[in-house]
Amino acid sequence: VSALKGDFFRDNLVLLEEAASTNLTLKELAAKGAPEGTAVFCERQSAGRGRLGRSFHSPAGEGIYLSVLLRPRGELTQAAALTSLAGVCVAQAIEDVCGLAPGIKWVNDVQVGGKKVCGILIESVIENGVPAWLVLGIGINVNNDPSAFPPELQEVATSLRAEAGQPFERERLAAALLDRLEESYRGFPQNLPLIRQECRRRMVTLGQRVVIRSQEECGVFLAEDIDEQFGLIVRDANGERQTLRSGEVSVRMA
Ligand code: BTN
Repeated sequence: VSALKGDFFRDNLVLLEEAASTNLTLKELAAKGAPEGTAVFCERQSAGRGRLGRSFHSPAGEGIYLSVLLRPRGELTQAAALTSLAGVCVAQAIEDVCGLAPGIKWVNDVQVGGKKVCGILIESVIENGVPAWLVLGIGINVNNDPSAFPPELQEVATSLRAEAGQPFERERLAAALLDRLEESYRGFPQNLPLIRQECRRRMVTLGQRVVIRSQEECGVFLAEDIDEQFGLIVRDANGERQTLRSGEVSVRMA
């Protein structure tokens, strides 16, 4: 990771053996004045967090568990766009380093071979009652043996090692990811049309029937497109369209 091309993350790297959750560690560091670009890595998480209150399986030495601190100017409502930006960067870094062809499952999963290899969780840090910082958390299953995953992940998750049939140097992948993130974040938000285009190209969800579950309803829809705010445009059986925002919705392929 010391071989980073830019200085945005290189100057503020925090490497830990263990954290409950790197997102939590970074929120604490932000409250103590950590600068934008602070990046926290750890070897294992004892309480890795996922979306919708789920946990993220984070065993020692097998994955990348990373959180970076961002302060997008006036763009704090753009969490969905930044999630997609991160998803595109993860997919590109995996492609560059591992030679695999990752897809993106709206809105926060990166998949290889139809199974999840990465999850992304953005959380905001509130200061004086207003969101001031974003903590972008990324977890990648790199060298895991999927047969050791908890039962609920067996069918739906995999690792880069399992898909490629060889292990990878986590440091190399982490450096490639930070380089991609730095470049892409420096171009944000002007580069959003480009990110949307790349995201659409990689979306495994589009043109597919998906099961959408929210607090109010559960149903099968056809996923048609993503809009300019990175919401998912879906059509129901009656042909009626609606746009889903990432917050409280879970999506799986029908
Ligand atoms: C999801 O799949 O719902 C999101 C998973 C996000 C996991 C990463 S690992 C690093 C960071 N710290 C956490 O506790 N979660 C994120």
